[in-house]
Amino acid sequence: MTRPILVNGFKAAMVTHTSAGLWRHPDSRARRYRELDFWIETARTLERFDFDALFIADSLGAADVYQNSPDQALREGLQTPSADPSLAISAMAAVTERLGFGLTLNTSFNRPYELARRLSTLDHFTDGRIGWNVVTGLVPSAMAGLGIDPAVSHDERYDIAEEFMEVVYRLWEGSWADDAVIADVASGVYVEPRRVRPIEHHGRYFDVTGIHLAEPSPQRTPLIFQAGSSARGKRFSARHAEVVFVSAQRPDVLRRTVDDIRAQAAEAGRDPGSLRFISTLTVVTGETEREAQAKHEEYLRLTSVEGNLARLASTIQVDFGAVDLDEPLEFAETPGIQSVLANFTKLDPSRRWTPRQVAEYMALAGFGPFVVGSPAQVADELERWCEQAGIDGFNLVDIIPGQSFREFGELVMPELVARGRRPDPASGKTGLTLRERIFGGGMARVRDDHPAARHRYPDDDAIG
Ligand SMILES: Cc1cc2nc3c(=O)[nH]c(=O)nc-3n(C[C@H](O)[C@H](O)[C@H](O)COP(=O)(O)O)c2cc1C
Repeated sequence: MTRPILVNGFKAAMVTHTSAGLWRHPDSRARRYRELDFWIETARTLERFDFDALFIADSLGAADVYQNSPDQALREGLQTPSADPSLAISAMAAVTERLGFGLTLNTSFNRPYELARRLSTLDHFTDGRIGWNVVTGLVPSAMAGLGIDPAVSHDERYDIAEEFMEVVYRLWEGSWADDAVIADVASGVYVEPRRVRPIEHHGRYFDVTGIHLAEPSPQRTPLIFQAGSSARGKRFSARHAEVVFVSAQRPDVLRRTVDDIRAQAAEAGRDPGSLRFISTLTVVTGETEREAQAKHEEYLRLTSVEGNLARLASTIQVDFGAVDLDEPLEFAETPGIQSVLANFTKLDPSRRWTPRQVAEYMALAGFGPFVVGSPAQVADELERWCEQAGIDGFNLVDIIPGQSFREFGELVMPELVARGRRPDPASGKTGLTLRERIFGGGMARVRDDHPAARHRYPDDDAIG
């Protein structure tokens, strides 16, 4: 089989994640984001249709850049109100055996000592199915809420993240020997203290002394996802990410990012072929092309251009109140997601985008490929993107919660299986960690060329 196409469900714990206005669709269950049953049903659906993981975006601040106010975002249920998605993961893990979970947690807002225990706990509770999407933060409203100095620059947040990673790697990989837990009933010893050692980290941003609080979990270091694609973000990805989350509206534009990160990974001493790349993806499908087109038109009638402008403003941190909506966007260093602005300005030679056009494009498309068509047409597009952009798979946007994942599972997954681009779900193995699921058997722990491996407990030879 050619390399399988990875497919994750992509969600955030809020009413409007990507397509503003669509929560009003009669079939949408978006409003149920605050019900645990909704998450349980979502996980069951993804597992039933053999998705690889549920990838959960998260941010801790309101989308208040547009017109310098959170009002439009509140009207749309965009970003606020939201729930803490990490709290649903144990419940979702309890009703699934194979599905992985990619959780977004921020290195500017958390402390490494406690984040390390939180993720070790989730790695235990999910039997090794947890991944961490490492983000550095970009929303000033989150910093204001947390009392964090907003003057800390974009690049310095990455310096903090670099040091953060070193601390958590040392805790996860280097504090406990694999055989530290002996649980010897006869002698009454649960942990052999000589096989546990404190880490001693004194750096520019963190001072951490102590032993990791959790015993070794199946993956130790959770599968590392990362989605930064500024120059600094790409360097960080190249060092740390095992799966890189990228997005662009054209495959040739995306290819440059992918090639660049792979080349930088090689420079950092990693096998560039060991990184996986996934893109955002929005699909509207049906039994036939006609049915898909009809759905698309129905969805378009519900979208909110103003809501999407509020989302765009928050994503790139530019208030369109001060910008002409019909003047072409220019690239500028902004505190927001720089890659999104770059994709629509300097990287697309085919056209010049205005903010209004971007918002209209975003109506359903998000920032990545957007496909409307029959299952065969969708599969053609996915194969084309993988080939032309050099990517390995997708984070599928849940435009109509309760419907979109199921439709993709019922219609497109069998087409991908028939083309040899997905394993036969009937042969789906249980008991694999997320890392093994993505990279193949025998890879529960980080590879030897990953920076976390340098911190392994000295005589720990139980690798891979
Ligand atoms: C496709 C994509 C998805 C992202 N998802 C999140 C998210 O869920 N939460 C968050 O705080 N940041 C998110 N980010 C932002 C970052 O991962 C990163 O911290 C931010 O983009 C700043 O880095 P950059 O300028 O290198 O992109 C995302 C970025 C991209 C490109």
